[in-house]
Amino acid sequence: MSERIDRRDCLRIGATGLLAGAAISGNAVRSATGDHASEIARIGFVGLGGRGRWLLDCLVVHFPNVQIPAVCDLIPDRVQAGIDIVQRTSRPAPVGYCQGEYEYRSMLQRDDLDAVVVATGVQKLAPISCDVMKAGKHAAAEVTGAYTLDDCWAIVEEKERSGKNYMLLEQCCYDDLNLMVLGMVKRGIFGEPYYAECSYIHDLKDDDKNQTYFVTPDGKQTWRTRLMTEGHGSSYGPHGLASVAKWMDINEGDRFDYCTAMMSDPRELHGQLVEQYGADSPPARFAVQTGDFLTTLIRTVQGRMIRLDYALTATRPYSRYYLLQGTQGCLDDRYGCYIRGDGPLHTWQPIENYMKKYRHPWWIEGGENATKVGGHGGMDYFCLRELVQMITDNHAPWVDCYDCAAYNAINHCSQISIDRKGAGVEIPDFTHGRWKTAGWRKGPQDPMFGIE
Ligand SMILES: NC(=O)c1ccc[n+]([C@@H]2O[C@H](COP(=O)([O-])OP(=O)(O)OC[C@H]3O[C@@H](n4cnc5c(N)ncnc54)[C@H](O)[C@@H]3O)[C@@H](O)[C@H]2O)c1
Repeated sequence: MSERIDRRDCLRIGATGLLAGAAISGNAVRSATGDHASEIARIGFVGLGGRGRWLLDCLVVHFPNVQIPAVCDLIPDRVQAGIDIVQRTSRPAPVGYCQGEYEYRSMLQRDDLDAVVVATGVQKLAPISCDVMKAGKHAAAEVTGAYTLDDCWAIVEEKERSGKNYMLLEQCCYDDLNLMVLGMVKRGIFGEPYYAECSYIHDLKDDDKNQTYFVTPDGKQTWRTRLMTEGHGSSYGPHGLASVAKWMDINEGDRFDYCTAMMSDPRELHGQLVEQYGADSPPARFAVQTGDFLTTLIRTVQGRMIRLDYALTATRPYSRYYLLQGTQGCLDDRYGCYIRGDGPLHTWQPIENYMKKYRHPWWIEGGENATKVGGHGGMDYFCLRELVQMITDNHAPWVDCYDCAAYNAINHCSQISIDRKGAGVEIPDFTHGRWKTAGWRKGPQDPMFGIE
């Protein structure tokens, strides 16, 4: 169905789908709250925009043991698109939920869901993920996973209260290069890591079709715009931070201690909106707070330092650059790799040289398939594979609620630092001291499990 469907149609999708759902339920091999492992992963979806639909498609096309009993979005066409994606793979039609902001809660009452992927705008990810766990299902939230400091605490508290798993779908740490670096760190190739750079720089002002991610078709702010108008912190931290946090054992022997941040004034977005929509247009009156370029410096308890760069409006191509400095060498993905004693002094070596030696086993075995599947060069595949295994094996995920909370607390803390002219701002310890014991949550989900 490609035409817009009204509320009654929506109810109809729900009723038809409910029958399908009952059939799926009959086939299910365990209850949603069961502890034991299962062959089947039964996943619901909340949020079927571009990202949600991509995740759904990837799961049903590439993971035969995934079932999708139900999907939910505010927009009927998107619900229907989600149903179509599932049906194209000859699976039963999922039940569609599309009757408003809180209809996902009706979906959560189903007993045929093990987990729910939440892929709404950033501001709703944490409240919905908490509702998912409260309803006895595992939650898998898209990036960023949390927005406010309260969100960060809420996902940790609900995960601990409910005992369900919370996974942040932060795929960048499954990247070929980033997993190789992780392996090199664990083998001590860089010596002791003490400094890292990471970034998320993505110009969202204008795409090829002269559209912008910042204005809805009827001239309003999108959830991305709200990142820029409701605050001025580093509000999209995980794509940069997650990988370096894993390299630096954050929440596993070290933790973020405090940060200091600075930003340039916001210039670019307003200019673009005026150019595109006119000086008197509603978009031109969006009160942009977030500067065009933000840098946050994070100091860890173990005396390490991380630089996080962030820009959503800087006129330039997309980039996510990474650097790791240790006492024995450095990798800078813009230049190469230098390991003391390995090659000429002061000379970068091509990263491919190290890839031959240290490529992560997952990429050696599954890289070709992952690259075919796509999703940022294949890293999304490994992330979704872990999601499916988290459900079937019922183990904690590698990037969990404690990581998500630490990465996103930077939004709040960097904003306070900016307001105080770069003063240091303490970052909460969401693990309540457990970070001191390396390996306190280590398990088969960890990509270094069994190969360190
Ligand atoms: N990991 C990545 O590389 C990556 C890439 C793009 C987007 N994302 C993340 O994915 C999420 C979605 O991004 P997008 O580009 O698809 O956004 P989008 O705005 O296109 O889609 C969000 C969808 O959520 C729906 N929604 C909002 N509130 C809802 C509710 N209460 N119940 C049901 N549905 C609701 C909206 O109707 C919309 O269809 C964001 O959090 C974004 O940060 C991650």
